[in-house]
Amino acid sequence: MAKHTPSNDTVPAEQYLESLYEKDIILEGVKHAIRQHSMPEISIAPAYGRLLTLLVRISGAKRILEIGALGGYSGICLARGLTDDGKLTSLELDPAFADVAKRNVTEAGFGAQVEYRIGEALHSLEALEVEGRKFDFFFIDADKVNYPNYLDWAIKLANPGALIVGDNILMHGRANDPNVNQNAVEQMRKFTRNIAEDPRVESALLPAFDGLSIARVK
Ligand code: SAH
Ligand code: DHB
Ligand code: MG
Repeated sequence: MAKHTPSNDTVPAEQYLESLYEKDIILEGVKHAIRQHSMPEISIAPAYGRLLTLLVRISGAKRILEIGALGGYSGICLARGLTDDGKLTSLELDPAFADVAKRNVTEAGFGAQVEYRIGEALHSLEALEVEGRKFDFFFIDADKVNYPNYLDWAIKLANPGALIVGDNILMHGRANDPNVNQNAVEQMRKFTRNIAEDPRVESALLPAFDGLSIARVK
C-alpha cells in the first residue's frame, strides 16, 4: 500500500510560495472558528483560495454556486472576486456548518451577497433548476462520490462560458494509486476523466496541493 499524504501537508515549494504572502487575518479567523467548533480542518489550500478570487475577478462572474460550504473559507475567497452586484449561493448539508459559514462570511463583509441552502446538494440543485437559476461560476467541494453528478448539474445550470472548479481531484494520492478502489476515489477519477474528455468543456488540471480542476463551459 502506498503512503498517502495527509490532508494539510504541503511540500517545501508550496510552503516557500505561501511564505511570500502576508497573513490573511480574516481567513485565519475562519480557520480558528473551524477549530473552535471541532469542524473538519479541510478548507481549500490558501493558494487555491487566491486562485478562486482571481478566477471570479477575471471572468467577471456575477452568479456563483458553491457546493460544500464548511466554515466559509472558500466562500469568502469566491465573494472577494465579485463586484457589489454579484451573488454567491452555497449548498451545505450540515446546518451547524452553514451557521458558522454564514457568520464568517458576514464578518468578512459579504453577508448581503451570500445565500445558504441547507440539505443534500442534489436536492438543492434540483430546486435551483426548477427555479430557473443559472450560474457563471461553480465551485465543487462536497462529498466526493457525487462529483460526477455535480459536474452534470453544473453543466446543466451553466451560462455559456461558465467556469467549473473542483477541489481534491488527487484525494491525497489515492486517485493515482492503482491499488485503491474505494467508490469515492473511483467517482473522483470519473469526474476528472470527464473534465478532461467532455467536448462541452475546455480544461486544465493542477497537481499542486490536493489537485484542482478548472473547466470552462463552451
Ligand atoms: N469549500 C469549503 C470546504 C468544504 S468541505 C472550503 O474550502 O472552505 C466539504 C463540505 O461539504 C462539508 O462542509 C460537508 O458538510 C459538505 N457536504 C458533504 N456532503 C454533502 C452533501 N451531500 N450535500 C451538501 N453538502 C455536503
Ligand atoms: C478532505 C479535504 C477536502 O478539501 C475536502 O473537500 C474533503 C475532504 C480531506 O482531507 O479528507
Ligand atoms: Mg476540498
